[in-house]
Amino acid sequence: MAGGDTFQWAHRTVKVYDCPGHTAGHIAYHIPEDHSIFAGDTLFAMGCGRVFEGTMADMWGSLDQFRKLKPHTFVYCGHEYTEANAKFALSVEPGNRKLQQRSIVIHNQRAKGEMTCPTTIGQELDTNPFLRPDSAEIRKNLGMENATDAEVFAELRERKNKS
Ligand SMILES: [Fe+2]
Repeated sequence: MAGGDTFQWAHRTVKVYDCPGHTAGHIAYHIPEDHSIFAGDTLFAMGCGRVFEGTMADMWGSLDQFRKLKPHTFVYCGHEYTEANAKFALSVEPGNRKLQQRSIVIHNQRAKGEMTCPTTIGQELDTNPFLRPDSAEIRKNLGMENATDAEVFAELRERKNKS
């Protein structure tokens, strides 16, 4: 399977996306009919996978393609890292109202032992710093007002690694 391939599964057409970064051969499955993407360890709720085999630029390219999906697309992630991701997201974009609200919801869900996935592309566009390198607040907090989105993404990923 490689990017651009399609196959039939459960009477549905599944589209394959290349998502290098976490691993070199990482792929995602998109089922447009069900408004669903199976993102593996590329995109998490309010986070993203670690960059192991690919480059930061690879990972940014992989995430950027998710930004173009319809906002109501459900995202099925490979891990339940949402609560820790929310903490990091708030550290780089504390003034983001939707992020503040979502963090409270997530905290309450996890306290009850509930899972926080699937999420949606729309929610991630609003609250996931790794999809928001164009946020003025994030850029200001990083001192990177004039950097490219790819550079801001790379700095966010480095900081998350150390957090
Ligand atoms: Fe993994």
